[in-house]
Amino acid sequence: MSQTIRRIAVNTGGGDAPGLNAVIYAVVHAAEKAGIEVLGIREGYDGLLEPQDFPEGGVVRLDRRSVAGIAPLGGTILGTTNRGNPFARPAQQRDGSWLEVDRSAEVLGELRRLGVGALVAIGGDGSLGIAQRFAALGLKVVGVPKTIDNDLEATVQTFGFDTAVQFATECIDRLHSTAASHRRILVVEVMGRYAGWIALHSGLAGSADAILIPEIPYDLSSVARHLQKKPNFARSYCIVVVAEGAKPAGGELTIRGTELGREVRLGGIGEQVAQLLGKLTGKETRAAVLGHIVRGGSPSSTDRNLGLALGTAAVRALLAGESGVMMAIHPPNIVSVPLEQAVSRMKTVPLDGWAITTARALDISFGDALGIPTIPPRPIT
Ligand code: F6P
Repeated sequence: MSQTIRRIAVNTGGGDAPGLNAVIYAVVHAAEKAGIEVLGIREGYDGLLEPQDFPEGGVVRLDRRSVAGIAPLGGTILGTTNRGNPFARPAQQRDGSWLEVDRSAEVLGELRRLGVGALVAIGGDGSLGIAQRFAALGLKVVGVPKTIDNDLEATVQTFGFDTAVQFATECIDRLHSTAASHRRILVVEVMGRYAGWIALHSGLAGSADAILIPEIPYDLSSVARHLQKKPNFARSYCIVVVAEGAKPAGGELTIRGTELGREVRLGGIGEQVAQLLGKLTGKETRAAVLGHIVRGGSPSSTDRNLGLALGTAAVRALLAGESGVMMAIHPPNIVSVPLEQAVSRMKTVPLDGWAITTARALDISFGDALGIPTIPPRPIT
């Protein structure tokens, strides 16, 4: 055990995900049990860098009392930001222009001043990349993976994903009745920047006719042909689920906007697909964008339990002297993997995995473009 750690800090970065509060709860309980104090940093690293923005303090002491009852809550009690990279922070210059500046040394200085011996950084690929850079600068860091997108390679599942799929499925279920009443095509856009996990799993569970994901560039005429093959197409309805990061074959991502210091904002693909499908099929078509609604709300029991397990494991790892690692779910265990490995690759949907194989067996189209071979069904073992 590392004898030097008396105080640790915890923060949450990037987009929120159901289950973040369960991790915070678990970190506080596990640390207190080991006689370690916990400080919560507000909004990524902003609480350290811009304390004046937080009237109640940029850093707060967390104990069992202050985290009582938070595990079932959505969001994060610490707040979060996806434009708070201390190594490249947008800063306005005297002439009004914006530049990215490196303020990592200030973060390290503040943590030293506060007597923080280690950091539990909860976040997705961006936040874990930042954690890795701090680890390289000598800070003891353990990362906890989070994202509803489920696209982190080194862990079997990220918390937040289960809740997001559950709610997206419920929304799709509801859209069936309105689509059926009007005999429309309903296109449902869900989050999923570079990986189609949410679209695939909710579309499969929600009996979609077609699912468009970033991993399979689509051809809308192939989707239209597929829908038109439905028995009595004129009198029936269709559900198409599309991930925000899906792209037409040879085409580009649909970008809503760009901003300095953060990833491009995606969005709009649902409307685009709806308009084109309407033209191609002659059927009335509408788009529904689920967007942030699937990121909110109380975490499912699975996501709470994953959060609790990862939070306690992160403290265990710190007590064992580990640093520069991310806690990962490898059933039946939680293991630690080097942060470097954790952020090196994105976990995309395996094209021959059980979910795609099942969907194809159920005649769900992925809009495969002609010339791109479809994946033969593989026996489920
Ligand atoms: O959490 C990941 C994610 O849900 C992506 O799918 C999406 O593109 C992004 O967050 C949007 O985040 P925000 O609108 O908060 O910037």
